[in-house]
Amino acid sequence: MIRFTAPYFHLSTAGTSYVMKISEQGFLEHVCYGVGIENDEHIPLLEESGRIRLGTVPYTDEQHQTVFPDNILAEIASAGRGDFRSSSIELWKDGSMLLPEFLYESFRIFEGKSASFPASALADRTVSTLEITLSDAACSIAVILRYTVYEEDDVILRSMRIENRAGGKVEIRRSSSLLLDIPFGDYTLYSYDGAWARERHETAHVLKSGMTVIDSKLGISGNEHNPLVFLENTRGEAYGFNLIYSGNHMETAEVSPFGRIRVTAGMNVYAFQWNLGPAEAFETPEAVMTYSPSGRQCASANFQNFVRKFIIRGRWKDKERPVLVNNWEATYFDFTGEKLLRLADEAVSGGIELFVLDDGWFRGRRDDTSSLGDWEPDEDRLPGGLKALADKITAKGLMFGLWVEPEMISRNSLLFSRHPEWVVRRKEREPLVCRHQYVLDLTKKEVRDYLFEKLSAVFSSCSLSYVKWDMNRTITDYPDPDNGEFLHRYILGLYSLLDRITSAFPDILFEGCASGGNRFDLGLLCFMPQIWTSDNTDLHDRIAIQEGTLMGYPSSAMTAHVSASPSHQCLRHSRIESRFNIAAFSSLGYELDLSMLCNEDRMAVKRQTAFYKAHRCTLQKGVFSKLVISSNQRFWYMTYGKETIAAQIQTLNECHSGREDRLFMPFAKDECMYEVEARREIIPLCEYGTISGVHECGESERFFALVSGRILKHYGLPLGPQFTGNGMSPSFRLLGDFGSRLYVIREV
Ligand code: DGJ
Repeated sequence: MIRFTAPYFHLSTAGTSYVMKISEQGFLEHVCYGVGIENDEHIPLLEESGRIRLGTVPYTDEQHQTVFPDNILAEIASAGRGDFRSSSIELWKDGSMLLPEFLYESFRIFEGKSASFPASALADRTVSTLEITLSDAACSIAVILRYTVYEEDDVILRSMRIENRAGGKVEIRRSSSLLLDIPFGDYTLYSYDGAWARERHETAHVLKSGMTVIDSKLGISGNEHNPLVFLENTRGEAYGFNLIYSGNHMETAEVSPFGRIRVTAGMNVYAFQWNLGPAEAFETPEAVMTYSPSGRQCASANFQNFVRKFIIRGRWKDKERPVLVNNWEATYFDFTGEKLLRLADEAVSGGIELFVLDDGWFRGRRDDTSSLGDWEPDEDRLPGGLKALADKITAKGLMFGLWVEPEMISRNSLLFSRHPEWVVRRKEREPLVCRHQYVLDLTKKEVRDYLFEKLSAVFSSCSLSYVKWDMNRTITDYPDPDNGEFLHRYILGLYSLLDRITSAFPDILFEGCASGGNRFDLGLLCFMPQIWTSDNTDLHDRIAIQEGTLMGYPSSAMTAHVSASPSHQCLRHSRIESRFNIAAFSSLGYELDLSMLCNEDRMAVKRQTAFYKAHRCTLQKGVFSKLVISSNQRFWYMTYGKETIAAQIQTLNECHSGREDRLFMPFAKDECMYEVEARREIIPLCEYGTISGVHECGESERFFALVSGRILKHYGLPLGPQFTGNGMSPSFRLLGDFGSRLYVIREV
């Protein structure tokens, strides 16, 4: 709900309040963002008295000697007029920086939200929007600050529109979607960082005086720093922020000399300069924010629900995602039609539902040095083309899916020989090369039209249920002219192409990918309901990657595959059951040569897919949370309604530990009873056969218990002994290094 009771704007969600006011001088000031305030009459009590005087800091005028721009809680900030913290808007004209002071002009409140760039969340009855117009008469610039309130979800979206009312051109050099001033507190900023195959590891930055910056300059949202961040204070309050954008982004957190904490989020200032002509307007992407008094795990739950409900859309939004097999790590480029069909047969016996043909299906593509851009099926390798293969695969009862990488072009391709001018480059320099490829200039309509035609022809040539849309490099060599606009225009071009293609093929399930998780963001999720999380499928490395990703995104949007042992990325050996236990907390797939598995592992795959399908609703629609017991042991939970799937995950087996592990469920209800049952795993005798007693097993221990919520929450349920060097019996649990076990917990 949004209320205006002069001078206050009060935005309230189920559990939070966001309050602003129009100051005596006409500035829009922030009052508070936190736990819900039930009575508007209490709002004035939250205001500081405003009688503080500061030494060397300028104040606005002699009548307002205690109004210090550097210390007010602002909603918008520009440089040069006494607010020395980071600004949210920076405008230049004719070589001079403008010094706007935005004053209140008007507001409007309405149901729903105005269509916004780059990809608006869906509106429904619980959504309302406040638009506040501020302007600066001297510069003839107006800004409209937008606040869209998702009441049930404790989420508020923010964006800004900049309007040029002046006669000449104005340059925008900075335009943050969000600026939030928090009055005080000791905060830690959590960001999700990494590199290829090491995406979204959580990093804690204890905020001290000065600025912390999280950003991407890669031309895409990037694997180095995701736009998702949380701020948590020592009292356990948490704020979460994300951006609906796939390009360069920048999030800053700054502690001012007076202990104010300023957060900004939006497009990056790096390589950005936008020319705004007379009567033109510029829209920033939307930033998403949430608040929880109970820590970032709860703020994360708000984000998981919000993304599932309002970012992901289309026919696959709420549909259960199929279990797939992808041939990439099974064959790489070394495949034939027969080899693929053998893999498909194995997939059918394993209970898999979708077969995905990855890179290498198009003419000339025998390795990664050529042919991107041509998109003609390779009839030598696949006689009868994609149609013949897809027909055979679908006749086996599987759906058929295909890999493409439309945004790229190989130098060695027909397309390059015909249209070298379509490459993103500067005339005077050779463009940088990455994986032997260049970027296609999606700002050009003719390039987008070409891709739309080519892809449409491929997608309609066979029975296609799924497309993996890859993008394997970063963007450099921004072309002239106006190259400060290029990276943003590229993303706009990408969104327009995605909009066209996904609307033309509404039944296809699209999965985003960028060398794994190099573009995992809310912008892409508006078009593609799921994204390939990382090229690293190792079970241990995936713990940090998946935990980080699930902080901001729901499990259905995150894909994870069971792959071979040793891992192709880090050479780690592991059991297939343990690999499944980690991958199961996502949209599941397999990516290995199933025909190379021993009989026990084949049997395991069959039982895994059956288990996954039986609990798919929880695993894909549930809310994720975790409990770290020690550096060696943690629990994962996925909860949907009365069912929770819990995983006990161990790093190294501890010999002779002398104690039993316990299953905790921190959110169990004290007054309820719960049934707890272990998923029974196949124990390959070859792996443990020489340990005394193990030859009697072949299957993991039976475990069933009926237990109160109070015990699960406060004491933990003993799970039975692990084999740690001594003795053996059928009730012993064999976890080993990187071992794990799944438990189904039902509230009864
Ligand atoms: C990078 C992706 O992340 C992989 O899964 C695979 O599709 C390769 N590209 C294919 O070239």
